[in-house]
Amino acid sequence: MLKINDMTMKFGGVVAVNKFSANIENGQIVGLIGPNGAGKTTVFNVVTGVYKPTEGNVEFNPNETGYVISGLRPDKIAKLGVCRTFQNIRLFKELSVLDNVFIGSHLRLKSNLLSSIFKLPSYNNEERQMYEKARYLLEKVGLYEERNEKAFSLPYGKQRRLEIARALATDPKLLLLDEPAAGMNPQETQDLMGFIGNIKEEFDLTIFLIEHHMEVVMGICERIFVLDHGIMIAEGNPQEIQSDERVIEAYLGVE
Ligand SMILES: Nc1ncnc2c1ncn2[C@@H]1O[C@H](COP(=O)(O)OP(=O)(O)O)[C@@H](O)[C@H]1O
Ligand SMILES: [Mg+2]
Repeated sequence: MLKINDMTMKFGGVVAVNKFSANIENGQIVGLIGPNGAGKTTVFNVVTGVYKPTEGNVEFNPNETGYVISGLRPDKIAKLGVCRTFQNIRLFKELSVLDNVFIGSHLRLKSNLLSSIFKLPSYNNEERQMYEKARYLLEKVGLYEERNEKAFSLPYGKQRRLEIARALATDPKLLLLDEPAAGMNPQETQDLMGFIGNIKEEFDLTIFLIEHHMEVVMGICERIFVLDHGIMIAEGNPQEIQSDERVIEAYLGVE
C-alpha cells in the first residue's frame, strides 16, 4: 500500500529524517514511535505532500498500480486516497460538527463551480448526498447526537473523533493518524483503540499511526517502526519492539 524508499528530509542543517524506509501492506495497522523530535510528524508531512523529500521517494500502491507520490501537491495525494489527522487538532471551530465532515467530502465533488454557484439540480443532488454521507459517518464515529453543535464546544476526545470523521469523508484508503490519543484520559484512550479497529474494518482501511500511548501502539499495531533522531533504530512486532535494547534505551527507558 505504501512504500517509503530511503527518504531523507533536511531543514537547513537539521536532518529531521535520515534514509527512512518502510513498507506497509494493505489492511495493516502500523505504528511509528520515537521520542519527541525524532522525525515522526515529518514522515507524515512528506507522505501527505506537505514537504518534498530532500532524497528518496514515497510510492503509493492502492491497487497494484503504484505511483510515486512524493513531490505531488497535498490535494492530489489526498485524491489518490491518502488522508491524515493532525497532532494539533485542526477543525473549523465555528462550524457545526456536521459541516466539518461535509467539508471533507468536497474533495470528491463532481459538480463544477458554476453548477455550485447557481445551485443547479446536479449540485443540489450531490450536496444532499454529501450531507447524507456526513450524517452516516457521524453515526459511525458516535457523534450524530452532537451534529448541530459547534466543533469547539465538543470535549477533546470527541474533537479527535470528529477529525477522523472528516478524514473518512475523503474516502481514504490509507489513513495517517498523528497522535490520536494525545490529551485523552484512560477511558477515552481505551475507547479510541476499539474505534480505530472498527473504522479499519468498516471502511477497509490501512492505518499508519503515530502515538505516545504505549498501550495503544502495543495493543493495536501489527508492526512498529521506531525512529530516534531521524534514524530508524528498530522495526518489528510489539513483542520484538518491547524487548529491543536500543528501543528501551532511546525511548521506553526514558518513560
Ligand atoms: N518545517 C520545519 N522547519 C525546520 N525544522 C523542522 C520543521 N519540521 C520539523 N523540523 C525539525 O525536525 C525534527 C523532527 O520534528 P518532528 O517530525 O516534528 O518530530 P516528532 O513528530 O517525532 O516529534 C525536529 O528537530 C524539528 O524541530
Ligand atoms: Mg510529531
